[in-house]
Amino acid sequence: MFQSNICQLLNIKYPILQGGMAWVANHSLASAVSNAGGLGIIAAANAPVEVVREEIRKTKEKTDRSFGVNVMLLSENADEVAHLVCEEGIKIITTGAGNPGKYMELWKAHGITVIPVVPSVALAKRMERYGADALIVEGNEAGGHIGELTTMALVPQVADAVSIPIIAAGGIGDGRGMAATFMLGASGIQMGTRFLVAKECAIHLKYKEKVLRAKDIDTVVTGRPTGHPVRILKNPLSRKLLNMEKNQEPASAFEELGKGALRRAVMEGDMDNGSIMAGQIAGLIKKEQTCEEIIEEIMKEMKIIMQEGWQRWQGK
Ligand SMILES: Cc1cc2nc3c(=O)[nH]c(=O)nc-3n(C[C@H](O)[C@H](O)[C@H](O)COP(=O)(O)O)c2cc1C
Repeated sequence: MFQSNICQLLNIKYPILQGGMAWVANHSLASAVSNAGGLGIIAAANAPVEVVREEIRKTKEKTDRSFGVNVMLLSENADEVAHLVCEEGIKIITTGAGNPGKYMELWKAHGITVIPVVPSVALAKRMERYGADALIVEGNEAGGHIGELTTMALVPQVADAVSIPIIAAGGIGDGRGMAATFMLGASGIQMGTRFLVAKECAIHLKYKEKVLRAKDIDTVVTGRPTGHPVRILKNPLSRKLLNMEKNQEPASAFEELGKGALRRAVMEGDMDNGSIMAGQIAGLIKKEQTCEEIIEEIMKEMKIIMQEGWQRWQGK
């Protein structure tokens, strides 16, 4: 019943992708998600190309299933990573922060399935024209860098505008969220925040605890004046950043404070000066589980909801 077109396209059992997350999505998390029947994704972010190669090789040792690499197009290493994925025989790429147009020919020549992340209808249409195989349509409930629209408003508008498959992201944490996005026109989901607290996710324990303790209203959006808004959990750093916004401090001041901030949270567990990226759905996430438990639970909930929904529709 849930063998969606995304499963065929990506050669996976369940249409659930783990979002590429800078400093977070390494071989441990990606291989666990793939082994559980979803699509694990390694985040290349700004990492040196040799580090990304090492992560790819370790993932290959831990799984023989499909997995992907997230290429951050704004990174100064993007060019090198774009060629590395070809050398390493990667079959699926997701792209964030920018336009993958200039690599499309290269990736297509290597038989790579390309799935850009899009925050708007205009970009979705452009990516389809460039030859994208599917789209990750991400609403601003998501953790990390965000656009302006919510998942609820964006997914159906993109679904009407393109004919390639859509993977919804942003604010999805359980089977209800997954079912809702399928109703809006998606045929797969991508989650970041829920996988932050997976047992196989090797982030600092303090980061996990902060996500597990978060309430619905505990995230804020910082960095709007820089043109790169980011959703993070409230902490002393977020308060400093918001104060700077109020005082109309220059973009360079934000960049200075934000430099290395995600690494400080993920690697050092610095909950005061680190950027604790997480989405609005953090308030729903209450326990650490293995990737297999997370994926199986969501698929079970999804199945029940689809059946109950039909009964409600019939007035039962
Ligand atoms: C800590 C963190 C880091 C992220 N880093 C990236 C990244 O490097 N590239 C990218 O395309 N998306 C990144 N994202 C977005 C996720 O891949 C995913 O689309 C998003 O988390 C989905 O929304 P959710 O958090 O509500 O599940 C990041 C998200 C988080 C929480």
